[in-house]
Amino acid sequence: MIYAANFKTNHTRKSTENYIEDLQRKLVDKNEEDRVFIFPPLTALDAYEGDFTIGAQNAYPVESGAYTGEVGVEQLAEFNINTILIGHSERRDILGESQEVVAKKFAFFKEQGFEIIYCIGESLEIREQGLEAVMEHLVSQFEGIDTTYENFMVAYEPIWAIGTGRTASVEEITMTHDALKKVVDKPLLYGGSVKGANIAQIAAIDNVDGVLVGGASLKTETFLELVLH
Ligand code: PGA
Repeated sequence: MIYAANFKTNHTRKSTENYIEDLQRKLVDKNEEDRVFIFPPLTALDAYEGDFTIGAQNAYPVESGAYTGEVGVEQLAEFNINTILIGHSERRDILGESQEVVAKKFAFFKEQGFEIIYCIGESLEIREQGLEAVMEHLVSQFEGIDTTYENFMVAYEPIWAIGTGRTASVEEITMTHDALKKVVDKPLLYGGSVKGANIAQIAAIDNVDGVLVGGASLKTETFLELVLH
């Protein structure tokens, strides 16, 4: 299993340092083959070493240059970061990233050899139209994406399940992941209100290879409930 913690705009540099110190101590108990990712805010990035991978929640698809407010590969390289989240629904919907922009980022970071967690997901309105409409939408989020890239995985996160406490049902996750595996044969994470109370059920689903976690990743205790479940 893959366990990815997405801090979003939470935690400071100091609290991230404390978090990682605490987590690393307790990760000795995890299954050796499981992988842990942590995506802190950009200001908290550092060259941490341990039984986990630190990634960037976002970056601009350039080496460096005149892009006020953005960071490029040069800034990430300082901390040996070569893992990135691309396509999160908050970036698509709140920050206005179009599929074209997302695809450009994917192509750039692929070229750089980054490990990419590529996020897709549908709105409640689309979910209510049924699986066919959901799949049509999810497939459209692969437009311009090289799904043969060896160093990437997909995170399926229904937007209506993110930060709402409302997880997709086991049946919804199963059917969506089964259909997605036929489209893209890559590790497939589920995200959306994953927590201690539902991890066992979700992790037991055949085509769930991991989870991307927001709220429940913010404290080491609640994140470890997932990693060590
Ligand atoms: P959540 O967020 O776990 O708080 O629902 C998941 C995500 O957005 O990655």
